[in-house]
Amino acid sequence: MAHFQFLAGLLILLLALAEGTRLHRIPLHRSPNFKRTREAILAEQLYVYHKYNLTSTANGFPMEQLSNLDNLQYYGNISIGTPGQVFSVQFDTGSSNLWVPSAQCSSPGCVQHRQYYSNMSSTFQSNGSVFDITYVLGSVAGFMSQDVVTVAGLPVKNQTFGEVTTETGSNFLNASFDGILGMAFPSLAANLATPFFQNLYHQKLVQQPVFSFLLRNNGTTASYGGELILGGSDPALYRGQLTYVPVSNPEYWQFFTDSIQMGNTLISRGSAAIADTGTSLLLAPIAQYTQIARIFKVNSQGYFRCRKISAWPTLNFRINGVSFKVPPQNYVLQEGTYCTLAIVSSNQEFWILGDVFLGLYYTIFDVGNQRLGFANVNSGTAPSQVGVVLMVLAFIVLRLWVH
Ligand SMILES: *[C@@H]1O[C@H](CO)[C@@H](O)[C@H](O)[C@H]1NC(C)=O
Ligand SMILES: *[C@@H]1O[C@H](CO)[C@@H](O)[C@H](O)[C@H]1NC(C)=O
Ligand SMILES: *[C@@H]1O[C@H](CO)[C@@H](O)[C@H](O)[C@H]1NC(C)=O
Ligand SMILES: *[C@@H]1O[C@H](CO)[C@@H](O)[C@H](O)[C@H]1NC(C)=O
Ligand SMILES: *[C@@H]1O[C@H](CO)[C@@H](O)[C@H](O)[C@H]1NC(C)=O
Ligand SMILES: *[C@@H]1O[C@H](CO)[C@@H](O)[C@H](O)[C@H]1NC(C)=O
Ligand SMILES: *[C@@H]1O[C@H](CO)[C@@H](O)[C@H](O)[C@H]1NC(C)=O
Repeated sequence: MAHFQFLAGLLILLLALAEGTRLHRIPLHRSPNFKRTREAILAEQLYVYHKYNLTSTANGFPMEQLSNLDNLQYYGNISIGTPGQVFSVQFDTGSSNLWVPSAQCSSPGCVQHRQYYSNMSSTFQSNGSVFDITYVLGSVAGFMSQDVVTVAGLPVKNQTFGEVTTETGSNFLNASFDGILGMAFPSLAANLATPFFQNLYHQKLVQQPVFSFLLRNNGTTASYGGELILGGSDPALYRGQLTYVPVSNPEYWQFFTDSIQMGNTLISRGSAAIADTGTSLLLAPIAQYTQIARIFKVNSQGYFRCRKISAWPTLNFRINGVSFKVPPQNYVLQEGTYCTLAIVSSNQEFWILGDVFLGLYYTIFDVGNQRLGFANVNSGTAPSQVGVVLMVLAFIVLRLWVH
């Protein structure tokens, strides 16, 4: 009996360990500089316009007042080369390339960040094709290189990435991260470089072609901003059922909503939307934004008169028959006696759902089945405790069962 108990206990321990090795976790930092202000919203709006190749809409705003992009708030560590050189990158489901500053770059935006030294890496291979990514307040340009890129201890060989040699403008000046690691589909990638996650899967470093994000939008000082899980998802991080929705156009993580409502007002039926971890805002097609702005009586500067936050309606995205609510606490922000929306307009026919939405809903990016899964974030328990509690419970249950 004692023997059996011991063996069964060992089995459970091994299963728990196997489960642990199947998923690979990258803790995410939340930018300490993050502050959502009207100015930061406008800066980000322009940034997102460029990312999605949108043109500016009628409500013009002063470019020179725009602050930098501290509002691109979540990032984590990766390493490149052998021995590994550490970089912090934004894991961005709204783009498909990886780039970091090159040692050969002397632009202010490069020298204030960590830079990649290919001559210090024994696994570096030159590629040399040039790239140029334009952002609204400048651009990053350089050439492609190949090297080992390690994320959460998983070494991807021959990953093609951009070495930035010139960074013009103020896009990434003072940014909390060094570079960007794109996690959208391959067809979006500049120079058709295979994105990191596709190589990770093809090199069999994860078993499932799935990754998932928990973005914590609550608390400003917590260094634990959430986590990115490679190779699957962790049911301890969400509660209730998952709702899956097919990707309708596998370039961005794009899908169709059933309907979108602001309180009792129907804003749209069947609108497309994109899940973008590299954006903090919500962007709405102009006509739909206008309808929302009318409810709040937003003025031409983007402000409206505040009232008790809970008196504003809840924004409700219906996805595959299930309601995903965004309460006013998450999309209204108060600046003195005036309030502003973390929702802006775009001249495209799709919504862009950034952290305002993704911070409330655990999101599974299922590359293999080309679908997205959403569930309520489990805000009750710290994730590190959950595994321990489950293991202890498993031991107790097993002991009872064996007796
Ligand atoms: C951006 O849109 C314009 C037209 O609005 C188009 O000419 C251009 O090719 C697009 N650029 C990209 C990178 O898609
Ligand atoms: C970057 O930070 C420096 C020092 O804090 C500040 O003077 C400068 O205005 C910032 N630049 C941008 C573009 O935010
Ligand atoms: C990322 O790396 C930096 C420098 O090596 C380290 O200080 C920081 O704690 C790391 N962050 C995480 C989340 O591992
Ligand atoms: C590596 O390259 C950098 C500039 O790109 C240079 O300053 C440095 O001396 C080089 N180091 C070695 C060991 O060659
Ligand atoms: C990486 O590139 C080297 C040299 O081109 C090649 O020998 C090797 O098979 C490649 N490895 C993978 C996993 O693609
Ligand atoms: C450079 O990278 C691109 C994209 O991965 C690839 O198509 C091309 O063959 C590479 N060129 C060289 C010289 O390795
Ligand atoms: C943050 O979490 C606490 C406790 O879970 C909750 O009381 C508070 O309302 C939350 N704040 C925001 C802004 O979501």
